[in-house]
Amino acid sequence: MDLPADTSRSMLSSYDLLPDKYMNITSLIKRLPKAELHLHIEGTLEPELMMALSKRNNVTLPFSTVDEIKAAYDFSDLQSFLDLYHIGTQVLKTEQDFYDMTWAYLERVAKDNVKHVELFTDTQTHTDRGVPTETVIQGIDRALKDGEAQLGISGVQILCFLRHLSEAEAEKALDAALPYKDQIRAVGLASSEMGHPPSKFKNVFARARKEGLVAVAHAGEEGPPEYIHEALDLLNVVRIDHGVRCLEDPKLVARLVQDQVPLTVCPLSNIALCVFDSMEQHNFKQLLEAGLCVTINSDDPAYFGGYMNDNYLQTQSALNLSAADMIKVTCNAFNAAFMDETLRNTHLETIAQLEREFG
Ligand code: HPA
Ligand code: ZN
Repeated sequence: MDLPADTSRSMLSSYDLLPDKYMNITSLIKRLPKAELHLHIEGTLEPELMMALSKRNNVTLPFSTVDEIKAAYDFSDLQSFLDLYHIGTQVLKTEQDFYDMTWAYLERVAKDNVKHVELFTDTQTHTDRGVPTETVIQGIDRALKDGEAQLGISGVQILCFLRHLSEAEAEKALDAALPYKDQIRAVGLASSEMGHPPSKFKNVFARARKEGLVAVAHAGEEGPPEYIHEALDLLNVVRIDHGVRCLEDPKLVARLVQDQVPLTVCPLSNIALCVFDSMEQHNFKQLLEAGLCVTINSDDPAYFGGYMNDNYLQTQSALNLSAADMIKVTCNAFNAAFMDETLRNTHLETIAQLEREFG
């Protein structure tokens, strides 16, 4: 197909129909294989599935329609979101529920060309309601195995402690999960950040690491840069979830750049939870330009208005990121992933091939 000489890539609208030599940045983003490293599986519960599970399990929700659920998605900060998120999790009761939720997520992100996922699960949210750890981990694991076999998506689970609860409760969650250690790759730390510093969980993280699990932690989403230092120094994390507030501390930035500590940034989440006023004001480009190892992820996509491609596309267009930038953050994610080396290299090679095609 011949294009007029003055047709720039940004003017192309029917890019999906164009041969590869006219690939624009939108189609490049869609075609890039992706790794999602920051995803709360309970945050993928779409209102339709929430309603269906509430009926299946006879759980009464404070909403009677899908539209009523959607109308409640108006958050002012992390806590206002967590309050609603915890209501949603109450519909999850059986192993099949955890399977169905995880499978729905995998089928959805297969369309975004996601090839590897690392899922947080906060078992404490469920054990507190009488749902055993085994039910949660096995249901998710079964879906991940089917995802690998049927969709070509590899996946691991990250056991995520709830920081608003005590360290003793996190120790109990770890004990309950250790019989399923083969299904868990790492431990993480989530929920209300302010007032719950990483130092509170020093001992349980040390024990998890002794058990062979790697460590990650949410830090610097709403909390101060000091929490990022603590996560590195006291929890020995290998990645920081969010970490966007690191820019307030130049020494911390230098350290994160030097060690190339991956930051699992979640742009749409940051807008939905008012960490930044708009995507145009997000500091993602500054993080990238500072030389930080940033990645793009969806966090709680059912609640924050988009899955992986939405996060990639909206970040790219609001901040006018280049194709090279998008390729870099995609490679960062695969390099930071807890995955098989051969598989990692296969995906990196596909990215390199796309880069060459893009020109
Ligand atoms: N931040 C912290 N904890 C969470 C989140 C989040 O975005 N989602 C679910 N638990
Ligand atoms: Zn998160």
